[in-house]
Amino acid sequence: MASTTPVDYSDIQGLVRFGYGKLTEASFLLLSIRNVTAARAWLTGAPISNAVQLEEAPSTALQVAFTREGLHALQLPEEVLAGFSAEFLSGMAGEESRSRRLGDVGPNSPEKWTWGAPGKVPDLLVLVYARDQMLEGFMRTIQGPQWDAAFNVIDVLPTSNLDGVEPFGFTDGLSQPKVDWERRRKIHGDELEYGNLTALGEFLLGYSNEYGKYTDRPLLQINDPFSASLPAAEDLPEMRDLGRNGTYLVLRQLKQDVRGFWRFADMQANSDPEMRRKLAESLVGRTQKGDPLVALSTRRIGGVDPTEVSQNQFTYEGDSNGLLCPFGAHIRRANPRNADLPPGITGVLSRLTHTLGFGEANFRDDVIASTRFHRLLRRGREYGPGLSVEDAIKKDAPETDDHGIHFITLSANISRQFEFVQSSWMMSTKFGGLTEESDPLLGNREPVQGCPVTDIFSLPQKNGLRERVAGLPQFVTVQGGAYFFLPGIRALRYLCSFGD
Ligand code: HEM
Repeated sequence: MASTTPVDYSDIQGLVRFGYGKLTEASFLLLSIRNVTAARAWLTGAPISNAVQLEEAPSTALQVAFTREGLHALQLPEEVLAGFSAEFLSGMAGEESRSRRLGDVGPNSPEKWTWGAPGKVPDLLVLVYARDQMLEGFMRTIQGPQWDAAFNVIDVLPTSNLDGVEPFGFTDGLSQPKVDWERRRKIHGDELEYGNLTALGEFLLGYSNEYGKYTDRPLLQINDPFSASLPAAEDLPEMRDLGRNGTYLVLRQLKQDVRGFWRFADMQANSDPEMRRKLAESLVGRTQKGDPLVALSTRRIGGVDPTEVSQNQFTYEGDSNGLLCPFGAHIRRANPRNADLPPGITGVLSRLTHTLGFGEANFRDDVIASTRFHRLLRRGREYGPGLSVEDAIKKDAPETDDHGIHFITLSANISRQFEFVQSSWMMSTKFGGLTEESDPLLGNREPVQGCPVTDIFSLPQKNGLRERVAGLPQFVTVQGGAYFFLPGIRALRYLCSFGD
């Protein structure tokens, strides 16, 4: 086991540690590099916010992340670039099979995106945050003299502040993994219960992850050009670590059909407001106010004090029939909250029997992979105006509003975290033993191999049967997306070192 070194918050971009909730205004700029010398000069001088906790929350924040195209444009040597993960190098829309697995087909297919398809991949993403009314001024300050020479703006993604509620009208941002900054997590224990505390290495490169291993990332020789400024690799101290204190950032622009969502629920409920609300809540897995449909746990989960009842402290253990929260609800798919082994499996023999597939296994727990390897740190923001349920279902209301989420997630392993959740849990028509359905919010309703119907949502009933809601329309459409590398701050300086 490598010896652990203290976390240097001043070398980490702040977004990994903070959601910047007090900075209610934000804008995400997608840029291509027009002049590499000017781009390097801007990046070197940019006041990038770090993860040091200040006494008072700052008024503004600035973050920067790069696609493979961007690192190439900065003239990072090819052999260094090759050390990044295969999915990052290929890009979100770089391969047909990836698009298929992510559900980016039909109306979601990259050729329909406004940005992010091959040929329209930005070089970098600049994320700008500010307190109310301060964004415009901050943008002018950071754009300084080199900006125009350095970059072409491909797109500007504006965001809106809906007070913690996403455009369908549900409280969002409640469930997050608790990042183990102190590195206290023991992951070689016998029975790993479900918990929120998650190894730092799941969200930052250069630290040990939930396997107790270090995720692959570019490592350099001590005498490689400019590598002296990089931190030493914790697991291989003779190497320099370009990944340390950096992570991957996945951005997807997800347009929400708010009217379509509520009109469908209204139609299914024969315009009964109570039934409409109940159906919508079943699709999400939480009430609009954010309460989980299953009871909050009173026992300790993942290092949370039992007296601190948080909206994130529960499992589906007491709802193994899905009567309270349907198996296919968005949050149950996104995080099934299960442990390595179902409860009650103790002792070597019992574990072995279970692992080999004998015994009275809980079938659903067996078909869902253990959650702790697939956690996502979400940092997205909404866009578009708010729309009440009453306005959404009005027949004569205009249909032109643009609502959605700029979905952002941070993870050290895009393939095991974001891609797994998106494809095996959200899009899969086989998730948890279900058939003919995919995520009720995100599903594209396109036929998949062996399953021509994908637009069902089933609600288990007490009598053991299932109520099936059929004909779910597509509520969310992908409009753009890309994989970025959000470097540590020393790594950012290194990336700007290469000259013509
Ligand atoms: C427009 C698209 C989306 C909408 C409207 C949406 C909405 C929501 C809502 C209302 C919640 C409950 C609040 C909370 O637990 O924080 C939630 C939770 C969550 N969503 Fe989404 N979401 C969207 C896209 C996605 C995508 C693309 C993913 C991942 C691939 C995702 C993953 C999650 C996860 C991991 C949780 C937390 C689940 C838990 O830990 O219990 N969501 N989402």
